[in-house]
Amino acid sequence: MRVMERTFREQLFFLVLCLFVLKGDSRYIENNDILKDDLYSFFNAELKREIPEELMYRRPLRCLDMIAVEGQFTFTAERPQLSCAAFFMAEPNEVITVDYDNVDIDCRGGDFITVFDGWVMKGEKFPSTQDHPLPMYERYVDYCDSGSLRRTVRSSQNVAMVFFRIHNAGSSFTLTIRKLINPFPCNVISQSPEGSYTMVIPQQHRNCSFSIIYPVEIDISEFSLGHYNNFPKRSMPGCAESGDFVQLLGGNGIDTSKLLPITDLCISFTGPTQMKIGCDNTVVRMVSSGKFVNRVSFSYRLLDAQELQTIKLNNVEDFCFNN
Ligand SMILES: *[C@@H]1O[C@H](CO)[C@@H](O)[C@H](O)[C@H]1NC(C)=O
Repeated sequence: MRVMERTFREQLFFLVLCLFVLKGDSRYIENNDILKDDLYSFFNAELKREIPEELMYRRPLRCLDMIAVEGQFTFTAERPQLSCAAFFMAEPNEVITVDYDNVDIDCRGGDFITVFDGWVMKGEKFPSTQDHPLPMYERYVDYCDSGSLRRTVRSSQNVAMVFFRIHNAGSSFTLTIRKLINPFPCNVISQSPEGSYTMVIPQQHRNCSFSIIYPVEIDISEFSLGHYNNFPKRSMPGCAESGDFVQLLGGNGIDTSKLLPITDLCISFTGPTQMKIGCDNTVVRMVSSGKFVNRVSFSYRLLDAQELQTIKLNNVEDFCFNN
């Protein structure tokens, strides 16, 4: 879907910006549109997992939007809006549910509201087809096709999105966004440019990715793959043969299967575990055979402009700047 025509870098910039704004919003200092009631309901939302509907945070949904809080978001078309998208995001250990309410759109006239289990940007998807448990067609749930049959759609990871197209002014719908705890997170997009994370795959034959959509320094601090309880080890070729390994990937899109490998970590060790990666997207991906409990811990922080400049000039791990 050609929802956004801008370059990927611009889109990421937009997202980053939104995230920072949201972080500001969530402290409710900057945003002057907030009523006292909203404020109250928001703090309640922060304290309680189950929020009664009347206390939910509410605001209008914009044609291009980014939402990181639970609440009710109502879109009302003031004119035809043919390519809109709302990105939803939760904590790494949460999934998102999207409920449709009060839908007044013209399905026959070509309107649609489609929830996607993941994010799509510039035709690229997260999680990649390889790493998602569901086939692609099941990841799209269209309101007009499923109608009242599926009023609630639940994501498989901490990100989801909704595409919509509305032809008639005055048409509207409301989305209720909730977050649920996910005891076994697999694929994740980091909400912030710094933090730390431990990825665990408990004896499952699957692959998980942790994606950081910022240029970062990443430090892999702990690592255990099955029976090899080693400190991080970088391999010679042959990591892939071991069946259980960790990949560090980088690139400028969100599809992890299209990113370039920076390094593989499995048994033998030849390099540093702290790396500066000047890519728009840095991913830690764990491939798991299902025979072992695999675990990797890492921390990351945003590179500043000067560090980025140095990477650019050094011309070393700079393949991200070449596209
Ligand atoms: C995990 O990834 C590896 C290598 O990228 C692939 O060969 C394997 O089929 C994937 N496993 C699953 C369960 O998707």
